[in-house]
Amino acid sequence: MLTLGVETSCDETSVAVVDERMRILSNVIISQIDIHQQYGGVVPEIASRQHVANIMPVLDEAMRKAQIKITDIQQVAATTRPGLPGAVMVGRVFGDSLATALKVPFVGVNHLHGHIAGLKLSNPDLRPPMLCLLISGGHTAVYLLDDTWTTQLLCTTTDDAIGEAFDKVARVLGMPYPGGPKIARMADMTANFTPFISRSPKENFSYSGLKTAVLNYVNYEQQVGHSLNIPQICANFQYCAVEQLLCKIKVLLKKHHVQNLGICGGVAANQYLREQFTNLCDEQGVRLYLPRPELCGDNAAMIAAAALLGIK
Ligand code: KG4
Ligand code: ZN
Repeated sequence: MLTLGVETSCDETSVAVVDERMRILSNVIISQIDIHQQYGGVVPEIASRQHVANIMPVLDEAMRKAQIKITDIQQVAATTRPGLPGAVMVGRVFGDSLATALKVPFVGVNHLHGHIAGLKLSNPDLRPPMLCLLISGGHTAVYLLDDTWTTQLLCTTTDDAIGEAFDKVARVLGMPYPGGPKIARMADMTANFTPFISRSPKENFSYSGLKTAVLNYVNYEQQVGHSLNIPQICANFQYCAVEQLLCKIKVLLKKHHVQNLGICGGVAANQYLREQFTNLCDEQGVRLYLPRPELCGDNAAMIAAAALLGIK
């Protein structure tokens, strides 16, 4: 089934073509980051308007790159939840209308399932059962997948998502949105630090306490007139943010006796996190599946992949 994917749930407008063997024929992404950066985060109304302006040129480019005609498309898949409501609506109505005009099926896709299914695009040999850690700007969750790609949510965050914490800490340190990649670069500049915050809640994840600890530390240091050692703060924050994931995954791998671990979502691009999980999985004799760095963030190929796999 030659599948057209559409993704507009946040600040990326993306259209992709993926074939039944899960090969990406095209995956065009227009990011709105430059526009939202001046406001320090994504402005929902602006995001919707930009999707409306971008969606047709992105479709044209996806057709050109895939070297197919629009009438070759056999199914259309678009993100229908969760996300910014106005932004999601643009892609959903666009995809549904296109499917109706082409007289092909329309598949509504859960964006989170898209991130999980997207792992198959980077790892063709991946076969569940597996544990999957989803870490993005809006979500921090662990799913158990059975061999039919049916997901079961095991745990989630009680407050902030990990990517949101990266973005907020970056903001307080004067770095532009999105903060994750900038914190990671700063953290690479320091080799030694003493972790000043550590939280490993038992049942779920929590990032609000960690974020507040960093904000309090920064405020205190500024009040007493100390200059901030930004690389050390970033390395410290990144260490604590990843430590929490490592502790929880270690326990869940044992509890559910799974041999495969997938990690997906924008934060999966973090190099330190990738190295730490590679070590953990080596230790535990578990196979680790990561998306290629360019497929960690939001993209439409993963939405098409979710439809092709029938992930639920
Ligand atoms: O999956 P994604 O593109 O969008 C959502 O569905 O949320 O994830 C975006 C998030 C942002 O919070 C961004 O700061 C974070 O992923 N991110 C990173 C890195 N690259 C992106 N966080 C930590 N380290 C990175 N290298
Ligand atoms: Zn996402």
